[in-house]
Amino acid sequence: MIIGIIGAGMMGQGIAQVSAAAGHRVMLSEISQERADAGKAAIGKQLDRQVARGNLTADEAQALLARIAPAGDMDGFGTADMVIEAATENVGLKQKIFSGLAGKLSPDCLLASNTSSISITMLGASTDRPDRFLGLHFFNPVPVMKLVEIIPGLATSDASRTAARAYIETLGKIAILSEDSPSFIVNRILCPMLNEAIFALGEGVGSVEDIDTGMRLGANHPMGPLTLADFVGLDTLHAIMLVMQESTGDPKYRPAPLLTKYVEAGWYGRKNGRGFYDYSGEKPVPTR
Ligand code: 3HC
Repeated sequence: MIIGIIGAGMMGQGIAQVSAAAGHRVMLSEISQERADAGKAAIGKQLDRQVARGNLTADEAQALLARIAPAGDMDGFGTADMVIEAATENVGLKQKIFSGLAGKLSPDCLLASNTSSISITMLGASTDRPDRFLGLHFFNPVPVMKLVEIIPGLATSDASRTAARAYIETLGKIAILSEDSPSFIVNRILCPMLNEAIFALGEGVGSVEDIDTGMRLGANHPMGPLTLADFVGLDTLHAIMLVMQESTGDPKYRPAPLLTKYVEAGWYGRKNGRGFYDYSGEKPVPTR
């Protein structure tokens, strides 16, 4: 298949990597050629680590990278069989991208959003193909996490669901089906837990380290919730909580005040070096 990916951030890179690993040709698009090239270079670094660990040969890594074409526009998407949007979690931005794509994709091309929380039905209405539009929600780090949520919108056809599931199977991932409900299945449960950990920190219930150690050793989570919030991105978590609060009207989903403060400070977590931990040294150091 030919897969078009919109956004070469953490998620776009991961989806590009696993698609190319499955033998698909990938067009990785960003708002500039430099950003698209940087996304591909980051995938290259990730593959170097896999080669060093003996999971992949250098030749396999090179062949995989050669299947990824970075681009500063979406002009080549007319040949794509599937386009997956992995841009920032912002409704207006995503709608603008989708309306800009109208008339530019082949009639059969499936269009998907990797949104973490936004209504698929609403996003589908801003495309020229609501019947061939759906949510495909990957998890970070994409090469490691086995799950993908398939979220049909109100107008999504059965044929589109089937085609999406077949693509997910080519990646060797497990698909689950979720209703188009705010944050779908996993984030509906996971994000309020991360938010609650930040409430607990803000209220002084425990330190960063004790909250994380508590959930790692007391609930067997692979990462503590504050480490995971930093990993997901505090800006992304904040955006997800706002969507849940606004779309349900339920105050239980309000972002923790400390989360809002960190986002206002520009402390987004691992991606820009500071969140509940400082990532500038060799080992992360708690910031509170
Ligand atoms: N990218 C690619 N591969 C990675 C990676 C990354 N960022 N980080 C780790 N890996 C790989 C390693 O190469 C290693 O592979 P190998 O076993 O084949 O050699 C394997 O993962 C294990 O890595 P490590 O031994 O270094 O580290 P850990 O055992 O501590 O595992 C982890 C790291 C897999 C990230 C684990 O801590 C984990 O599962 N954490 C929870 C992740 C999670 O919950 N993700 C979901 C977030 S929510 C989301 O994404 C939804 C969104 O909408 C918000």
